[in-house]
Amino acid sequence: MGLNVIMMGPPGAGKGTQADRFARERGLPKISTGDILREGIKEQNPVALEAKKLMDRGELVDDATIIAIVRDRLARSDTRPGFVLDGFPRTVDQAVALDALMKERAQGPLVVIDVVVPEQELVRRLDGRRICDKCGTNAEPGKSECSKCGGALVVRADDDGQVVLERLKVYERATKPVLDYYRGRPTFRIVNGAQSQERVAHELDTVIDDAAAASAGATAPAGVPSQKAART
Ligand code: AP5
Repeated sequence: MGLNVIMMGPPGAGKGTQADRFARERGLPKISTGDILREGIKEQNPVALEAKKLMDRGELVDDATIIAIVRDRLARSDTRPGFVLDGFPRTVDQAVALDALMKERAQGPLVVIDVVVPEQELVRRLDGRRICDKCGTNAEPGKSECSKCGGALVVRADDDGQVVLERLKVYERATKPVLDYYRGRPTFRIVNGAQSQERVAHELDTVIDDAAAASAGATAPAGVPSQKAART
């Protein structure tokens, strides 16, 4: 059965870091709307260049553009076993659009993860972040060049102090309601992102597997206990 994961959380929560690792380890494609937009900007794609004006101010790109990007990406065959979404959905309208796309696919559970980190720590992380100028990968601490491709390290365009504060405000206003949209679902889970990356990874793997198993149990034929129920 497929596995579909949404990695949610505020800017700097570590969504991208964990989505990357989880997707690699499980052989799933990671789909980051932020990365797709940044790649488009490098390629001078007109839609992405238009989006850049909003990104540089810390505002959201319009729903129609983002939903079209995700719809096209999810239509590719590598998403058949599932996917890990990073940075989407960010508005309730995007979440509704994703639900419609999921109905067309009907492959595996949709596990929603909320990575929680205090605001002070988010600001600290984004202030210290450096990314590779060539491939966009987050720099490893203490390194003076990209450990993936050797590229130069730079500050991400939207990690400027004022823009970070705007991104956090936009998250509160537009994206927090998406958590409420998902909260009542049996596959919604919260992870403490204010720990070492290794501990976050461990907690994340545990809750995703638990949510997927619970969902499989919920859809199992009558008389077949769910894995969670079988453990208790
Ligand atoms: P996007 O690229 O999605 O940025 P974001 O949500 O602001 O998230 P970040 O990439 O800043 O943080 P993250 O949580 O991924 O953390 P990371 O792992 O990098 O979006 C950018 C813009 O694009 C938006 O503002 C918007 O304009 C537009 N956009 C994108 N999607 C959109 C959508 N769906 N709708 C509308 N507009 C959209 O980690 C951050 C730092 O912390 C790194 O340095 C990392 O090494 C470090 N770190 C990670 N984990 C830990 C840990 N456990 N302990 C200590 N440090 C850690």
